[in-house]
Amino acid sequence: MKLEPKQVAVITGGASGIGLALARALGDRGLSLALLDVEAAALEAALADLRGRGCAAEAWCCDVADAAAVQRVATEVQQRFMTVDLLINNAGVGGLLGPLWDSNPQDWRWVLGVNVEGVVNGIRSFLPRMLRHGRGHVVNVASLAGLVAPPFMGAYGASKAAVVGLSESLAHELAIIGAGIRVSAVCPGVVESRIGESHRNRPAELQAENRTPPEQLARIRAAFDAMMAVKMPADVFARKVLAGIEADEAYILTHPETHPQIAARLALIGQAAAQAA
Ligand SMILES: NC(=O)c1ccc[n+]([C@@H]2O[C@H](COP(=O)([O-])OP(=O)(O)OC[C@H]3O[C@@H](n4cnc5c(N)ncnc54)[C@H](O)[C@@H]3O)[C@@H](O)[C@H]2O)c1
Repeated sequence: MKLEPKQVAVITGGASGIGLALARALGDRGLSLALLDVEAAALEAALADLRGRGCAAEAWCCDVADAAAVQRVATEVQQRFMTVDLLINNAGVGGLLGPLWDSNPQDWRWVLGVNVEGVVNGIRSFLPRMLRHGRGHVVNVASLAGLVAPPFMGAYGASKAAVVGLSESLAHELAIIGAGIRVSAVCPGVVESRIGESHRNRPAELQAENRTPPEQLARIRAAFDAMMAVKMPADVFARKVLAGIEADEAYILTHPETHPQIAARLALIGQAAAQAA
């Protein structure tokens, strides 16, 4: 979709990290912004930042895992902006580190609730309004972890694989009905953000104890920290995503150093299919 001034972009998780970088980049291009985020103080700061740059922005404090809350916000966004051209389902959290056999049911509920149901709630609440306008673009922020399964982050990897899968389903559905709406799944490697502090937004009822033995967890955490050490600046990342939207890319791959891992995974599946043929 060609990005143009006066279009309206909804961004979940817009108060920090990737969401805020996308909001700045889109706001600088003259789009109006509707930010949804669960963290009230960060949301207020983001709104001040965006308005200070001259962007037209409004914000709603909202938990994307709460379907009714997202629906209420969608009605208010419609009243305020009349239309939505770009829906960016970005809000997401990283769960506990550790092997799957030590994983915790509350952690699964939190990670799948935000990362998967949050995306579905965005689609359910905003897409019917976009369909009535007959145009637009949906961007779902998945992860490299949705294409190449990460060890010791089972719930997160499963949630991001689900986001890639449901993005593909949605793209097929929209193509079959002939809607003029495209879908992009963004699959980044590491980006500068506060994802490492995701626990700040974990609801009290989903607090989860890490069951991995401490010495094993320390080794896993050291490997994870090393993997996360080289980060792409969020503004560089945002520019790549905007280019991907304008090119109608189904998969927006922002980190070239991750491409061999993706190709290796696809080659394994291709090999299995060739052997089975
Ligand atoms: N940073 C990375 O390296 C990286 C890599 C791949 C994918 N991602 C994905 O990018 C997305 C954005 O994460 P980020 O890295 O910018 O982290 P971040 O923590 O800086 O930003 C996430 C935002 O989502 C909000 N949020 C969390 N739970 C929410 C909820 N229930 N309802 C509404 N808002 C909620 C947070 O308050 C925060 O503003 C996530 O989906 C993440 O999985 C990040």
